[in-house]
Amino acid sequence: MSTTPRCPFEHIQNPDLEAEQIAETTKLTVDLLDKRYPPPKQKLRGVHPKSHGCVKATFTINPDIPPELQVGLFTKPGKQFDAFIRFSNAAALVGPDTTEIEIDPVTKKEVAVEKHGSRGMAIKVLDVGGEVLIDDNGEHNQDFLMINQPMFAFANTEDYLRLDRTLLKDDDIADSFFLPVFRPDLSVTEEQKQRIAKSLDIVKNIIQKTDVGNPLGIQYFSAAPFLFGPDRVMKFSAKPCAEVPPSQSPPSPRPENYLRDAMTDTMTGNKFLHFDFMLQVRGKDADFGKDNELIENASSKWDDEFVSVAKITIPKPQPDVNSEENKVHCEKLAFTPWHSLVEHQPIGSINRLRRDVYAASAKHRGASVSETDPGQLQEGERP
Ligand code: HEM
Repeated sequence: MSTTPRCPFEHIQNPDLEAEQIAETTKLTVDLLDKRYPPPKQKLRGVHPKSHGCVKATFTINPDIPPELQVGLFTKPGKQFDAFIRFSNAAALVGPDTTEIEIDPVTKKEVAVEKHGSRGMAIKVLDVGGEVLIDDNGEHNQDFLMINQPMFAFANTEDYLRLDRTLLKDDDIADSFFLPVFRPDLSVTEEQKQRIAKSLDIVKNIIQKTDVGNPLGIQYFSAAPFLFGPDRVMKFSAKPCAEVPPSQSPPSPRPENYLRDAMTDTMTGNKFLHFDFMLQVRGKDADFGKDNELIENASSKWDDEFVSVAKITIPKPQPDVNSEENKVHCEKLAFTPWHSLVEHQPIGSINRLRRDVYAASAKHRGASVSETDPGQLQEGERP
């Protein structure tokens, strides 16, 4: 592991408080896993435990990538890397891909409520060389973790900690996290209340309403920002180059695992799949808002145009995508945004939090991970 450079883009309001919040969220991650999976149950990921399948892929830097974008992983035009990709549901528990029925808490009767969930795509680009922030069991890999919304539902470390406290208290039901929007709560500031209202909007009006027919056919986003060399920042996205049917989920009642079914079906065909890997890049002089809001708040969206820098190719057929062997391999993998070249350091509150949380989740569920040593970070880089 290397030490990481100071980041000119971050704005940490209260470093000591943030360090405490990160430590508590990390502990809650482990407590939640213990509660969800008491022995002899196998512990799964802290979030994104349900996989639709893992595939082999290649990640090729565009031969015509403009010189000003030849940074970090993207330094050599035409260079091809091997990669693994895991597709998942973000939900903290393994359940049906879309929830269609709920128990009304008052009447205790079944009510029809259709709720879609956030979907994940995690790419592990293998053997990238260079200097990395945390090695991946001795390997230098670059992980890109994405969801199918351009913004994350929770703004920062403070809010994510409140969410985790709620999940632990209420047996993984998040509803009371949103209560301050509906009734006065003196423990919540006006600023926090506004952020919670935004979280509710993203969850109810975007995530739960986004119908997905095939995990291989939709666009994914980093939502959070990353360094792009010493003096620029990026967000990234992967977008299918062609339509991959079906574009809608099956009619209700849907099979529990219809996304895995769609993916397995697609992977038995012969036509290779391609995604464009694209960046939004901003320089130091860009406007990041008051207190660097566009860096520190992961629920904020950048409107800059995405520029293609690489092509992801998923060769087909890969009929073993639904095999037991594939599932076991998928389970062992550990992705984290901190498996990264120093040039692409994760930045902003949510990303600072993710460093220890992903390591704790992966370690606790028995995935093989390199030890992270927060002590090696430089003063100012982390509270
Ligand atoms: C921009 C925000 C985020 C994005 C795009 C994102 C995306 C993802 C994705 C795609 C995965 C699945 C990786 C895999 O397939 O193995 C994942 C795993 C995970 N995420 Fe996030 N995530 C975000 C924020 C967070 C936050 C704030 C936390 C908690 C502090 C968190 C905790 C986790 C954990 C614990 C795992 C499982 C790690 C493991 O056991 O290997 N994520 N995330």
